Amino acid sequence: MFALILFLAFLLPFIHATEPKSRTVNPDLNARLKLAATNFDRQALLTKDSDWWYDFDNHPNYNSAVGAVITADAASFPALTNLGISIALLKLAPCGMLPPHFHPRATNLVTAITGNTTSWMIGENGVKTIRVNLTPMRMTIFPQGSLHVMQNNDCEPALLLSALNSDDSGTDNIMPSLWTVPQDIIRAGLGNPTINTEDLGKDIPKVGTGAIMGSAECQQRCGILHGKE
Ligand SMILES: *[C@@H]1O[C@H](CO)[C@@H](O)[C@H](O)[C@H]1NC(C)=O
Repeated sequence: MFALILFLAFLLPFIHATEPKSRTVNPDLNARLKLAATNFDRQALLTKDSDWWYDFDNHPNYNSAVGAVITADAASFPALTNLGISIALLKLAPCGMLPPHFHPRATNLVTAITGNTTSWMIGENGVKTIRVNLTPMRMTIFPQGSLHVMQNNDCEPALLLSALNSDDSGTDNIMPSLWTVPQDIIRAGLGNPTINTEDLGKDIPKVGTGAIMGSAECQQRCGILHGKE
């Protein structure tokens, strides 16, 4: 019994580890890699074989019930510093969703490995909203700064691989971001000065693992009872 409590106490920090972006694991190493005069000097800072691999399945959010975005970038994997690329594993639960977001510093190529995930991408004001069904081995493009959102249509998990041409791409989830400005400003933006934006915004999911539950239609179709994560 005591051992069980100890075991659960050990697991607790991992279960609750849903920070939107992990803190940089070794900022001092990032700084020294940026200052290295040559690749020779740079590699002298990365002498262990283990400096050169990243285990996506080691991340505390890897087994999140709702899914997760697990990103190998300069912050989580210092050897990527200054290399101008990062890779994210997108794990979506049945009906899981990546809420509307954009990457301020990277174009994003997403390839479906399993599942059937629909994405919508809006490149800028006035252009057509591009809809893609990401079935296995199909890739789509989310250009730098474009708004995009995706949902797994299937009643089983979906796996996708996401490449970004920055080692520090950044992500901005527009719904929680928008609700950080004053409510009267949001009301004006919505074109309705009397709408109750506090009430409208109270259930906007936090960034969490990067994934949230998708549409009610999907959840009903798949018999998923919990409405929210
Ligand atoms: C993927 O899901 C969409 C939306 O539900 C559906 O229209 C499409 O037929 C599905 N594609 C495949 C290959 O199952």
